[in-house]
Amino acid sequence: MTTRRNFIKSTAAIGGAMGLSPLMRASAAPWPVDAERPGHSVDRATAPLNILILGGTGFTGPEQVEYAIARGHRITLFNRGKTRPGMFKGKVAEELIGDLNGDTSALKGKQFDVVIDNPTTLPFWVKNAAQYLKGNVKHYIFISTTSVYRDQSEIGITENSPTVPMPAGLDPYRPDQRNSAQLAASANPANYGAFKARAEQEVQMQYPGVNTVIRPCLIVGPLDRTDRFTYWPARIDKGGEVLAPDKPDDPCQFIDSRDLAEWTIRMAEMREFGTFNAIGPAKPMTIAEMLYGVKAVTTAGAQFTWVPWEFLQQQKVRPWRDMTVWQPPYGRTAGYQRRDASKAIAKGLTFRPVAVTAKDTLDWHKTRPEAEQLATLNGEINGLSMKREAEVLAAWKASRSTPP
Ligand SMILES: NC(=O)c1ccc[n+]([C@@H]2O[C@H](COP(=O)([O-])OP(=O)(O)OC[C@H]3O[C@@H](n4cnc5c(N)ncnc54)[C@H](OP(=O)(O)O)[C@@H]3O)[C@@H](O)[C@H]2O)c1
Repeated sequence: MTTRRNFIKSTAAIGGAMGLSPLMRASAAPWPVDAERPGHSVDRATAPLNILILGGTGFTGPEQVEYAIARGHRITLFNRGKTRPGMFKGKVAEELIGDLNGDTSALKGKQFDVVIDNPTTLPFWVKNAAQYLKGNVKHYIFISTTSVYRDQSEIGITENSPTVPMPAGLDPYRPDQRNSAQLAASANPANYGAFKARAEQEVQMQYPGVNTVIRPCLIVGPLDRTDRFTYWPARIDKGGEVLAPDKPDDPCQFIDSRDLAEWTIRMAEMREFGTFNAIGPAKPMTIAEMLYGVKAVTTAGAQFTWVPWEFLQQQKVRPWRDMTVWQPPYGRTAGYQRRDASKAIAKGLTFRPVAVTAKDTLDWHKTRPEAEQLATLNGEINGLSMKREAEVLAAWKASRSTPP
């Protein structure tokens, strides 16, 4: 059976080997990022920066790279050369090959105005890079996550809310535990938050006073192969009766990867330090607004049937995994979609309309290999399979027509 990890890996490889549309070929990135879209103009920054991007070739990274280049900055990449190798060949000043979990010596003797750390989950990775970077960078930006928050039932979580402590028995600095800790992080979301929180502390220790910690919620948009948002545009575009989670006015938060990436670069330009939640949209959004925003960019005439959480639970339909983006606004996830981003908004974080995110995500999704598109509708990564969706809808209707 194909595991989710293998699937993403193999489909990414297939995607690279596939013929790409002319629009996609025109870009160094596998998708025309905003900075390269016809008619989209990006102003040059007043002072060019020498920026090191750790990672840079996955999902959010390519948007940072293209936007920063359009702003006139000098970009160096550091990664293992495994994910989309050669993607920015001839576009970035330098490509350094190394492994944050191993050999980082390619960073030796280098100096940068800004480092943007995308891949790090384990605190050891920050330390491993710092042996060469410490004292040689003027600003370190760490892309963290809102999963660092300990109590997701808190409504209006701010940057001061408590974070997840390291679970007993896990030491992500010990070489013999590092790889198992990494595995534990991917298998257990609670550990992911703990490692990221500890990595934030490592950043603050290594780069005191000159660090920025950015905590995004669910990142969505083109290039996201996890299907956590992509499921909705893909499914709604197929039309028919669509199972929608719980109640239309349940809260909903996410951030478009382009909004996140561009704001990250602007934070570098402004030399803004501190910790920030990066969460959209600007004003509270309901799950119905999101789903109708997606529907607005399709022509298939989908109809939503809202099924209460109690019934979804009986049917073993999972929040987040099956009903993606959505989390029950009750109990331990009551605050999950109601966190506070006012600090980042005050520093210039902006959000494009949901219809733009939906349209671009759907356009990108349709360029994915056929097997990958099918996998989305079969719920193989995230999202509910159309077969299971039909069963749940039928059961819901049967329960409504049966006299008590
Ligand atoms: N996706 C979400 O919804 C979400 C939500 C909140 C926070 N986040 C955070 O967002 C961050 C950004 O992720 P992204 O995938 O968009 O970043 P990205 O920079 O676009 O892609 C990840 C990069 O890291 C590199 N990399 C992976 N392992 C490495 C290693 N051991 N040493 C050196 N480089 C390595 C990869 O290249 P190679 O494979 O070639 O090394 C790739 O270039 C992550 O830290 C994640 O925790 C994500």
